[in-house]
Amino acid sequence: GFEIEVADDGTIIPVAQGQTALEALRSAGFDIPASCEQGICGACITTVVDGIPDHRDMYLSVAEQEANDCFTPCCSRALTPRLTIKI
Ligand code: FES
Repeated sequence: GFEIEVADDGTIIPVAQGQTALEALRSAGFDIPASCEQGICGACITTVVDGIPDHRDMYLSVAEQEANDCFTPCCSRALTPRLTIKI
């Protein structure tokens, strides 16, 4: 697992092994827009402020993934113990 910090208000949310970041964010009360939940549509994209995402979507281009400044919480995870995002 890893944790997500929501930069907007400082909330820290643990993301368990068998759970998506989107599920963790939703159960913490953050209503993230999402559609496919499979990394295809891009609806769930959030901005990365700190940390390195483990991109698992097929929506972002390689260059966009390498920039590490956005993240699809429906399927992607983190390479760093904490990922700080802006919703
Ligand atoms: Fe479609 Fe995340 S909901 S890419």
